[in-house]
Amino acid sequence: MPKIKNIGILTSGGDAPGMNAAIRAVTRAGIAAGFGVYGIYRGYEGLIQGEIKQFHTEDVSGIICRGGTILRTARSMEFMTPEGRQKAYENMQRFAIDALVVIGGNGSLTGAREFANEYDVPCIGLPGTIDNDLNGTDLTIGYDTTLNTITECVDKIRDTANSHERIFFVEVMGRDAGFLAQNSAIAAGAEAAIIPEDSTGADQLDTFIGRGIRKSKKSCIVIVSESPKCGAIYYADKVKKEHPEFDVRVSILGHLQRGGSPVAGDRILASMLGVSAVKALQEGQRNVMIGIHNSSVVYVPFDSAVKSDKPVPQRFIDALQILSL
Ligand code: F6P
Repeated sequence: MPKIKNIGILTSGGDAPGMNAAIRAVTRAGIAAGFGVYGIYRGYEGLIQGEIKQFHTEDVSGIICRGGTILRTARSMEFMTPEGRQKAYENMQRFAIDALVVIGGNGSLTGAREFANEYDVPCIGLPGTIDNDLNGTDLTIGYDTTLNTITECVDKIRDTANSHERIFFVEVMGRDAGFLAQNSAIAAGAEAAIIPEDSTGADQLDTFIGRGIRKSKKSCIVIVSESPKCGAIYYADKVKKEHPEFDVRVSILGHLQRGGSPVAGDRILASMLGVSAVKALQEGQRNVMIGIHNSSVVYVPFDSAVKSDKPVPQRFIDALQILSL
């Protein structure tokens, strides 16, 4: 196997709090291991366009506490084409970059898998997404911070919900995954969560309304996973139609969920995974995502990591039902 001299780092897909901590960790661990480290701007798009700069330790100073990504990010359509990947490979050769560390979610690691299959380039993935939907890792970088952000928002919404005795449908991100909705519902003491992986959330809402919310509680908060067909607005309209006696409101949290300074848990996770990414390259690993499982670092082949069927554990769904009584 040819010796690795230089490594490239990029962030791709949706930004996530903790990505900067991961960039810092890969840069510093890479330099400590004797590698040249190159920052690639705007994800795969920057690799295709050659927006690449050598990173020294001071380039990543003071960023561990910052949200977003100093490398910026993109969802590159061109990288999805063989021609785009060819240009990306040529730029790697131009800068003598022998290996890539890709920080991103499902789409980004799928891109890394395609690239690694086509070209003889060792790629290591770090799970960087607020959605927590990558298989083989208990947590992804950014998820914990976003859970905290949502919880803080819902606590505030609860004040208004209680004061006006209202039903609030709060829509959160997660694309096709319900981790953010389910666990923010537990953390914020919501009455129900409606997630794509489980149909009982909507039933739970019906039971709750059937009992007459005012008998037991002053308000009702339902956290709904975003969905083009049946997000918070869909459920709010349904309840308004079927129960005109209730005062119903919708709050869509949107992109405020993705920004902000990462919590300590995300900073530590990103730092440990970043150091492990460099160690994995030194060990000759390739085409794996570095994850965390039962407090241990694990190497997850890209094929398994990007399978979009990571289950929301039933115990969380059951717990919310009990706790929202
Ligand atoms: O994957 C992260 C995520 O925040 C999803 O939860 C959400 O569906 C999507 O990105 C939004 O993407 P964009 O910022 O491109 O609208």
